[in-house]
Amino acid sequence: MTAATYPSAETDFDAIILGAGAAGLFCAAQAGQLGLKVLLIDHAEKVAEKIRISGGGRCNFTNRDLDVRAPHKHYVGQNPQFCRSALSRYTPNDFIALLDKHGIAYEEKHKGQLFACRSAEDIIQMLLAECQAGHVQRWQPCSVKKVAFDPAQAHSRKYAVHTDRGVVHARCLVLATGGLSIPKIGATDFGYRLAQQFGLPLVERRPGLVPLTFDGEHWQPYAQLAGLALNVEISTGSQKERVTFQEDLLFTHRGLSGPAVLQISSYWKEGSPLKINLLPGSDVGELLQQAKSCSRKLVANELSAYMPSRLADAWTAQRPELQRPINEVSDKALAALAEKLSRWEITPSGSEGYKKAEVTLGGIDTKALSQKTMEAKSQPGLYCIGEVVDITGWLGGYNFQWAWASAFACAQAM
Ligand code: FDA
Repeated sequence: MTAATYPSAETDFDAIILGAGAAGLFCAAQAGQLGLKVLLIDHAEKVAEKIRISGGGRCNFTNRDLDVRAPHKHYVGQNPQFCRSALSRYTPNDFIALLDKHGIAYEEKHKGQLFACRSAEDIIQMLLAECQAGHVQRWQPCSVKKVAFDPAQAHSRKYAVHTDRGVVHARCLVLATGGLSIPKIGATDFGYRLAQQFGLPLVERRPGLVPLTFDGEHWQPYAQLAGLALNVEISTGSQKERVTFQEDLLFTHRGLSGPAVLQISSYWKEGSPLKINLLPGSDVGELLQQAKSCSRKLVANELSAYMPSRLADAWTAQRPELQRPINEVSDKALAALAEKLSRWEITPSGSEGYKKAEVTLGGIDTKALSQKTMEAKSQPGLYCIGEVVDITGWLGGYNFQWAWASAFACAQAM
């Protein structure tokens, strides 16, 4: 694939794709292999940095548990059903077959999550090889100054993209510029601004899959627990729309993180509490009563049989009535302790923001797009794919699967 040198006369393409991340690379490869003349443009120095840092450097590229008939189970947005059509036409098995074709080894970790065995770099090299097979031309780094649409131009030249390497034309323009998370590796709001330029509505954006933070004063008793992890059940939302995850939770200096909190953060609304069961699967009240009948250990020591002892110590240190042998503690105090441990209610003050978020919630409103092709209903030839669209997956490979599937749907349609 040509990344730098490029004949200057060649300025007309079938499709210009903005953003050489997961969705942009895959869409370019697919469209190129279908015979389209494709130019892929990205302003970042390095290609696909988010794939490179994903999954702890091993890219959790899809999830075997994805139920394509019920996308609302694993996707968030104003209309998660929007992604059903694309996800059912390009499934996790299709992407697995691509890895098999390239001889890339992968393994399943937790809850259907598939990772490259060696490195995320293997996935990037695979996508670049697929682009090469489609004769895709890539300009990177290359900044886009403006995009114009002229309906009076010949059909094949309706979109004009003004870049620092000159003006290029195409009949199709694809927005694959991703979300706002991790600005230091190239995330921008460019895709949203272009969408607005063409009159597409946006759904309010906020960080998702992000650690949550708490006020200094409220958090003070727990700050000393930074680094401690345990399996919990965590939920948010009113009874009717409650969302619950059972995953690992991690204490940090400023708040809570770990898969449990990253997952719930995509559903958490500012000002509302989280409910956390620190001992899921056990009847804490019953356990404490049994201990009371036969033990003279301090409550903290007794609790440390069921939870990390640092947490047991921090928990009882805040409550003088619990700093004594368990057989001397009143039934009422033990019942209150059991209630607190199984329904710890705590209200985050905010999140760590786009600096630490894995994804952006919200984005280009799916109402404005065709779910079959990803084309804007009011702007022929303009397509939006990947994270820039108001579709956000759970942690666990669902976001990359959306990037592949939406890119595939778009490439088939252009
Ligand atoms: P992506 O962000 O991949 O690409 C957008 C591209 O557009 C970038 O290359 C950027 O430089 C370019 N761009 C932006 N503005 C531009 C402009 N003005 N001009 C030109 N180019 C521009 N998901 C998952 O499923 N499994 C995982 O393991 C992980 N892990 C993970 C870890 C971390 C730390 C993060 C931050 C994110 C993840 N994700 C993930 C989420 C996943 O990385 C993300 O959803 C996809 O990369 C989205 O693909 P896109 O192609 O839409 O955007």
